[in-house]
Amino acid sequence: MVKKITVIGAGHVGEHVAQGLANLELAEEVVIVDVVEDLPQGKSLDMRQSMPVLGKDTKIIGTNGYEETKDSNIVIHTAGRPRKPGMSRDDLLEANVAIVRPCMEQIKKTSPNAIVIMVANPLDAMAFVALKATGFPRERVIGMAGILDTARYRAFIAMETGMSVRDIQAMVLGGHGDTMVPLPRFTTIGGLPLAHWMSQEKIDAIVKRTAGGGGEIVKLLKTGSAYYAPAAGAVEMAEAIVKNSGRLLPCACYLKGEYGHNDIYMGVPTVLGEEGLRKIVEYPFNDEEQAMFDHSVDAVKGLLADVGKFL
Ligand code: LAC
Repeated sequence: MVKKITVIGAGHVGEHVAQGLANLELAEEVVIVDVVEDLPQGKSLDMRQSMPVLGKDTKIIGTNGYEETKDSNIVIHTAGRPRKPGMSRDDLLEANVAIVRPCMEQIKKTSPNAIVIMVANPLDAMAFVALKATGFPRERVIGMAGILDTARYRAFIAMETGMSVRDIQAMVLGGHGDTMVPLPRFTTIGGLPLAHWMSQEKIDAIVKRTAGGGGEIVKLLKTGSAYYAPAAGAVEMAEAIVKNSGRLLPCACYLKGEYGHNDIYMGVPTVLGEEGLRKIVEYPFNDEEQAMFDHSVDAVKGLLADVGKFL
């Protein structure tokens, strides 16, 4: 357990992250910050009142300022506009740079040693903005997207095979967008490759559905984007960091030469620990996988070129 985890944003993702952290008692204190008056206070009070029923001692606090967030061990940034039907994650760039950047400047001042987990979209660009705005080392600014994309992929495989999600091992890498890189060659159920369990046609369909997985939810919800799975992904990262468990999880990281790329955030297999990013693991890609990854890098690079305009 750490002393304090701050969740920025009291929207659907933020509230589920806070509740998830509290349920696992990952911090003594969970602080929810939001600009909307009374909203984080109301939600945190409600959550705190659920603690006696759940038998947990986490103190949950809501605030509109950064004083209460001081010296957080971990900061999970969920604040940002969500997508509406027909929008791509990239359409959120300008609006969300304007939200993420000032929040991260506050965090730099009030929690200079925090590990930041970015959740806002477009994810890879917002993680980059957080890195620049805080000036923190890359080990302490990590993006949550790969766990979500991989969870969707694993859920679809479970739905197709009837097998337990617990026995499905997979990694979806690359940017958090249409160019994401699911890796069927590295996907196994109980150690047996995916090709043992289903036809190539089925694999292709699952890969396609995974890449459009966020959009599928946006289309169904109509007024916003997914939140149960994104929140679960952020909580899993926080748990790996707090417990220093050395879990191998796909996360968005700032690359310094890994997979042949530099100065960009990309979803890669990471080992997380108490220091944040402990290590990036390089999978032995074949030419096709590397080409998909490079294509995804190009898409995120285009977005990062636009970030400069809004900084
Ligand atoms: C998704 C959005 C939140 O993938 O990026 O659901």
